[in-house]
Amino acid sequence: MKPLVAGNWKMHKGPKATSEFFERFRTPCQTDEVTLLVFPPILSLTAARKAVDKGGIQVELGVQHIHSEVEGAYTGETSAEMAAEAGASYALVGHSERRQLFGESDADTRVRVAAALRAGLVPLLCVGETLEDRQAGRLEAVLRRQLDAVVAFPELGESLARSETPLVLAYEPVWAIGTGETATPEDASAAHGLLRESLRAAFGDQRSRSIPILYGGSVKPGNSRELLSSPDVDGVLVGGASLDPRSFAEIAGSAC
Ligand code: 13P
Repeated sequence: MKPLVAGNWKMHKGPKATSEFFERFRTPCQTDEVTLLVFPPILSLTAARKAVDKGGIQVELGVQHIHSEVEGAYTGETSAEMAAEAGASYALVGHSERRQLFGESDADTRVRVAAALRAGLVPLLCVGETLEDRQAGRLEAVLRRQLDAVVAFPELGESLARSETPLVLAYEPVWAIGTGETATPEDASAAHGLLRESLRAAFGDQRSRSIPILYGGSVKPGNSRELLSSPDVDGVLVGGASLDPRSFAEIAGSAC
């Protein structure tokens, strides 16, 4: 499977800083070696699209958050269709910051994955346990609950079981996000193995192996190569280290 290296900029970089990033970004990889993807803030999506198109840069763009409806009286929200029109091809769903700071539930992730698919976006579903969950031995139960809320839901699950329906997962242990604390490659592989097993149970062996599982949580140029070469790790989702064009390029370089 072609590795996927994604950068989640969170609430960093307005349109100007976004254009500047892409002016300075040089990918060290060939297009067929790795898929690169950036999630700028929604307000900077158009600037990102313009910069990427103008520079002929091989980077996919995504949106960090979508509402489930196509349009309506939902102040402050953006639909998947609007993000697609502005140049996104991926949508992040269920990031732990959305779950923890904005109260998103498993049911919310389900409707947002469905909305992304409706608009032709690839949903990138994030799952991961808190330190408390891990210490209490609830890793497997939490991952299974977050994943099953989406893949085991009747109509949506049937759609996701088909190989032509796109889906990407990211395992992001909450205790490793923005803390400098990285899961060891063994921790990451173990959690990815659990996710792969749940996918296998839901969709069968062949389909389960076609769904990329990314690792996220303090990925840096110094640890990306080892993480990317770990079993069942198909890519990385990078926060802080994706904000600098050189460090993001270095991480990309460790995948090709
Ligand atoms: P950091 O790489 O800054 O830990 O963030 C990870 C993350 O949340 C990516 O979505």
